[in-house]
Amino acid sequence: MKETVDLLVERLNGLAPTVAVVLGSGLGGLVDEMEDAIRIPYSDLPGFPLSGVTGHAGAVVAGRFAGVPVLFLAGRAHYYEHGDAAVMRPVIETLAGIGISKLIVTNSAGSLDPDMPAGSVMLITDHINFSGSNPLFGEPTDRRFVGMTEAYDARLRVAIEKAATDSGTTLHKGVYIWFSGPSFETPAEIRMARVLGANAVGMSTVPEVILGRFYGLRVAACSVITNLAAGMTGGELSHDETKDMAPLGGRQLTTILRAFFQDGAVHG
Ligand code: HPA
Repeated sequence: MKETVDLLVERLNGLAPTVAVVLGSGLGGLVDEMEDAIRIPYSDLPGFPLSGVTGHAGAVVAGRFAGVPVLFLAGRAHYYEHGDAAVMRPVIETLAGIGISKLIVTNSAGSLDPDMPAGSVMLITDHINFSGSNPLFGEPTDRRFVGMTEAYDARLRVAIEKAATDSGTTLHKGVYIWFSGPSFETPAEIRMARVLGANAVGMSTVPEVILGRFYGLRVAACSVITNLAAGMTGGELSHDETKDMAPLGGRQLTTILRAFFQDGAVHG
């Protein structure tokens, strides 16, 4: 990825962010708050995947957020698009290569808890990889045996919780379960996921978290709840609902991240 690292460094023109934020479906509004934003389409960056999913823009947007240099990944590629869980590997490797040390991953998710309705934000404390896949399949070195006991960095979690408290925003906490998608879950799968100890369900994030740990980044993740999971309301789920509802929680997540960066928590 040396070529992409060099190219990105050149395009960043002296800006040297140490934190990157992956933006999930419908959460692209966060980039509107950037000052002096530099926008680099993924198509300019060799190895970066093109996501065909509506609601996922596909660009690096770097600049200052609450005064702090930050790199946003507006749009991600998903395992379910091509059946390749490692599709984000060149991206995460490039981030590590340009000096990013902290990765905040966001997503839209379904809630398994009626007390955490659409519009809520959940800090991910741990995950269940229920996809049967892994982005490190085929990695030939012993580095593939990545420890996941402390995948979600304790210090970053405390800082995000503090940012939520300081900004008067309710922040739920829980376990995220990764289903491959792209079909939504069945009600039976959701009942199972609840028994397994999951609080939110989605089709992303876990690959980036594993890759982040593989490349030695400190990782945190937040879900924006767009719906109660399958079978909990009687209605059918849809991607339109995800896109329509994401801005609701997205606004709260923006508030939390703003407080997080304003706090200087990112330097901790
Ligand atoms: N399931 C899986 N992924 C999702 C959901 C869901 O209910 N809502 C948003 N993304």
